[in-house]
Amino acid sequence: MPDNLSLRSLLVDAAERGIAYREAGAARRVAPSPEAVAAATKFIEPMPDIGADEKHVLAMLDEVGSPATVMMTGPRYFGFVIGGSLPVTVATNWLTTAWDQNVGMHEVTPITSTLELVAMDWMIDLFGLPAGTAASFVTGATIANFTALAAARNRVYSDIGWNVEADGLIGAPPVTLIVSEESHPTVFKSLGLLGFGRNRVVRAPVDGQGRIDASRFPAVKGPTIICTQAGNVNTGAFDPIADICDVAKPKGAWVHVDGAFGLWAAASADRSHLCSGFAAADSWATDAHKWLNVPYDSGIAFVRDTAALKSAMSITAEYLMTETRFRNPSDFTPELSRRARGVDVWAALKSLGKQGVAAMIDRCCSHARRFAAGFEEAGFDVLNDVVLNQVLVSFGDDATNRKIIDEIQKDGTCWCGVTVWQKKTAMRISVCNWSTSADDVDRSLEAIIRIAREHCS
Ligand SMILES: Cc1ncc(COP(=O)(O)O)c(C=O)c1O
Repeated sequence: MPDNLSLRSLLVDAAERGIAYREAGAARRVAPSPEAVAAATKFIEPMPDIGADEKHVLAMLDEVGSPATVMMTGPRYFGFVIGGSLPVTVATNWLTTAWDQNVGMHEVTPITSTLELVAMDWMIDLFGLPAGTAASFVTGATIANFTALAAARNRVYSDIGWNVEADGLIGAPPVTLIVSEESHPTVFKSLGLLGFGRNRVVRAPVDGQGRIDASRFPAVKGPTIICTQAGNVNTGAFDPIADICDVAKPKGAWVHVDGAFGLWAAASADRSHLCSGFAAADSWATDAHKWLNVPYDSGIAFVRDTAALKSAMSITAEYLMTETRFRNPSDFTPELSRRARGVDVWAALKSLGKQGVAAMIDRCCSHARRFAAGFEEAGFDVLNDVVLNQVLVSFGDDATNRKIIDEIQKDGTCWCGVTVWQKKTAMRISVCNWSTSADDVDRSLEAIIRIAREHCS
């Protein structure tokens, strides 16, 4: 059995290895070398009969595993929409992992539940959401969308006298789901998980930036849930949510906003106009592991109608301390047991303050514009209006773009992904990392343009 001495030396060893990994991050190639990836086959072995020494376990993970990672936390990782975890959030995460609290019930873990409540109130204020909005701390925007839409399902059905939690959807009256043609795939997945079906939806047409076209918005009739988006994963564009709310809310529809990264624009004085009128919606989903730069996994669902969220999520049992005068976290989340992910959010917000969050958002947006300007100057096509932190660039036809992106990833200076935007293959850049500097953008531009010129016919 491990004693206190081995606990100390093991945790110090892990901390030192983690620190060395992060310190080397900015200089290291972003994609791992093919040799490092190939060496990871050393992990593939039958489960040992006799366990290995704990120090050996950690050493193997670091010596073989660390070089095989993609440097997602580094300043030149621009793939998907991925934050780089602020040092204070990594530190907090390590400490809360040592606490190893189960955040299901307030009375069992008052400190983590209190910190989540504080973080929730701060974010409601930061985003300008209505007072009294409830939040659930979940794994990411996928489950935040699911959670918010579960509350929507509860409210819309209870409005027509059907108890969906008790009686399910078989034989239930129909509800109309209006989603954007450009809704993120996780919205469709959430609708599938909720029993609505991924395809039984009415699709709202979009414009060239992927925004719902308010002038062609489908008629809202009868019980309806509408899924809108703040921040398109390709272009960063925002749906006209205030206009949609103006039409839909008087008809009793539930309006949901998927703001996985875009909701954070509300924190910046220069970009909050993109979110104006959003507070009229009923629910909002966002991620903390994207633009707030906290470690994976961390997303938040906000729901105006606390009763609808609680009815969809809460459970009770004699052995659980669910009858309490406190806010019980598990009343708001799909999970009963879970880690204290809200503490990382609290630490990020506490250490940055409102000004620090705004500065981080503004910095990433100005880096995105720097990228766009660099591409245009080099004669390449930027396919989107760079309103936020997303840039789409095309170097030519489909095959040329794919070849160039592949070479950029292999080169290792930076990492960018491929997408297809309105039938055109393009390279996506998402600037989300707290530590990216103008110099990182220039180094990346230099590598991308050099590689693109080598492969453009
Ligand atoms: C708009 C949008 N919604 C949802 C998601 C899914 O987020 P997650 O992977 O954190 O579940 C993403 C991911 O990029 C996104 O951009």
